[in-house]
Amino acid sequence: MWDYTEKLKDHFFNPRNVGEIENPDGVGEVGSLACGDALKLTFKLDKEGRISDARFKTFGCASAIATSSVLTEMIKGLTLEEAAKITNKDIADYLGGLPEQKMHCSVMGREALEAAIENHKTGGKKKHELEGNVVCTCFGVTDKEIERVIRENNLTTVEQVTNYCKAGGGCGGCQGEIEKLIEKIQGDKIREPVPVIPRRGAKLTNIQKIQLIQQTINEQIRPALRAHGGDIELIDVEGDKVIVAFRGMCAQCRLTEFTMKDVVEAKLREFVSKGLFVEEDRDSANQPHNHRE
Ligand code: FES
Repeated sequence: MWDYTEKLKDHFFNPRNVGEIENPDGVGEVGSLACGDALKLTFKLDKEGRISDARFKTFGCASAIATSSVLTEMIKGLTLEEAAKITNKDIADYLGGLPEQKMHCSVMGREALEAAIENHKTGGKKKHELEGNVVCTCFGVTDKEIERVIRENNLTTVEQVTNYCKAGGGCGGCQGEIEKLIEKIQGDKIREPVPVIPRRGAKLTNIQKIQLIQQTINEQIRPALRAHGGDIELIDVEGDKVIVAFRGMCAQCRLTEFTMKDVVEAKLREFVSKGLFVEEDRDSANQPHNHRE
């Protein structure tokens, strides 16, 4: 169960401003039912050019409903210049926070607002277009959008990017490109100093053993899996049992059993300790994207 704030629950159970404004001054439609979430935002301006009314229709989870609802409240009374400054972080903060896996709902709200403002400025003549080149074809996310969520939310991992804009959460084929974008924007921030860890054969403390397992995964196992659109995550270490979860292509691959024994276990035995054995944590393995709860 997600850890939702009271404010989010309130906006989910009692959403404000549901519906659509007749003859609106701006309309923004983003997302698609095929991707699991969609949002339509309409607004009306008063004589001073301030947003006097805003309504939404959405298809999505509790977070999508709550973020859309709260967004309509946030923008009422603002000029379009003021509304254009709202970030996805502002929306999430207004709700008292969102589970990280649901941050893409706040991004969808910000995108719908931008689309509606653009629709107003162009007199409805220009359809909202994706800026940049599509990096994630599964979810239609461009490099510009990925760069923006990385920058605005200070993201440093592919998994975070997936949580914020879905990119990378389907077939996994774009994860290498996402990594390059993270590297380009965050640079040194993601290059952590390499810990000095004793090699295999030395007596290891528990912490050293876990560090060496993680290092072996990072350096010896992950690059090969990522080259094929997959990934691996260390979940836990219990004595000699190493629990991992496969991500991306690896999560759907029928050869997972083989990969686990002949690649992961073999490398960990070679680089950490002969007694290690590996098990897959199926509960946290990649699930198909479905944002209904
Ligand atoms: S292309 Fe991005 S997840 Fe498939």
